[in-house]
Amino acid sequence: MSEIKTISETKEIIQDNLEYTLFSWSKQKGIAPIAVKYGEGVYLYDYDGKRYLDFSSGLMNVNIGHGNQRVTEAVARQMQEVSYITPNCVTKVRGELGKKLASITPKGLNKTLFTVGGAEAIENAVKLARMYTGRHKILCRYQSYHGASYGAMSAGGDPRKLPADAQQAPNFVHFDIPYKYRWEYGEENLLKESVAQLERVIAFEGPSNIAAILLEGESGSSGCLKYPVGYLKKVREICDLHGILFIADEVMSGFGRTGKWFGIENHDVVPDMIATAKGITSGYIPLGALIVSDKIAERYNDNVLWLGLTYSAHPVSCAAGVEVLKIYEDDDLISNAAAMGKYIDEQVEKLKQKHPSIGDWRNTGLLGCLELVKNRKTKEPMAPFNAKPDEMVVMNKVAARLRELGMYTFVRWSYIFIAPPLCITKEQVDEGLAMISDAVSIADKAP
Ligand SMILES: Cc1ncc(COP(=O)(O)O)c(C=O)c1O
Repeated sequence: MSEIKTISETKEIIQDNLEYTLFSWSKQKGIAPIAVKYGEGVYLYDYDGKRYLDFSSGLMNVNIGHGNQRVTEAVARQMQEVSYITPNCVTKVRGELGKKLASITPKGLNKTLFTVGGAEAIENAVKLARMYTGRHKILCRYQSYHGASYGAMSAGGDPRKLPADAQQAPNFVHFDIPYKYRWEYGEENLLKESVAQLERVIAFEGPSNIAAILLEGESGSSGCLKYPVGYLKKVREICDLHGILFIADEVMSGFGRTGKWFGIENHDVVPDMIATAKGITSGYIPLGALIVSDKIAERYNDNVLWLGLTYSAHPVSCAAGVEVLKIYEDDDLISNAAAMGKYIDEQVEKLKQKHPSIGDWRNTGLLGCLELVKNRKTKEPMAPFNAKPDEMVVMNKVAARLRELGMYTFVRWSYIFIAPPLCITKEQVDEGLAMISDAVSIADKAP
């Protein structure tokens, strides 16, 4: 590792970034990004040598952890041979990655269209669903995120889309699934009501106009909001009844994040398409994938597949993907995710006893989220959905304390995300939870 820079050089690095680059989802003034020099495993290091425990795996994508040189070498090897070919030509790594994906996806999903990232996987899933069925509507959940491109943003229900509301892409229809934590009428009724609501929306919209239902395999940035038990199975049945396709968005919940290869496996359901990205290369190089059922693939044996991208099946990205998938297996990362997820569940139970502000904990494998509340009885959140800056005072203090203690993770509204790299150890979990416990004490004392 090259020498650590002095504080003034660090200031210059940050200054150049602030002056000449734009930052996502943020006011441009008053931000203080961490200047990251390098990463190793679950840690990031800034130019001054400060260490940060990455408790969100970047954007829940660096599943194998940072700085794995096996990926660097695989990428370099590919670049020494060829860095780019058109999607009409093929490379060894493209075929290898496609074959490997077919072996880990649920049965009957065997063919992949490679994209550049998650949003493009979703865009292509939506287009293909419309072409395949000849129908136009896509049903999606309000509390979901599917990417920031035009169609994907319209498909999601995340409030980040509201400033561009007038430009929504047409024919995305949203439905709600009641919020389990605040549902007062029992788990069985929650399932019944959720299914009944979806059935009503389908009836109102006309089943024969609906191409697909699009849902995250496990909910992510909306707050890891769990589906009622049995819900996705019912969705599958409803889809089959009406000839609607089921698209699973596995961009965040794929590649071991939930303790299984894909989040949807936790629900024992096989979708018609999987749109994925993030963990496929663990973020080392951008890559997305749309994996389709044999039935859908067969249609295009004799019909033109009207989909394409300059960077589809980019050789360097595919080389990274092949190596990253080997690392999941060689390092047994998916069982570690399941084991560490259970360990975190146990430890969070103890934290709950200590901290009255912890209202809820929702987790699958290593895709988890704490929800802080002002009062456990009323369940009033510490910051509301889509909180305004003046409603974030307490949560901002919690976030600032986490950063001061040396943690990088997402604090969004009343949520603190816990989604570390799959290579995390018990000791590192303990280190992170101790920081969270310290920071949450601020919320405990909030009026
Ligand atoms: C569930 C889900 N779908 C799609 C996306 C979009 O992926 P990308 O940012 O790679 O376009 C994200 C990104 O966070 C996501 O969490």
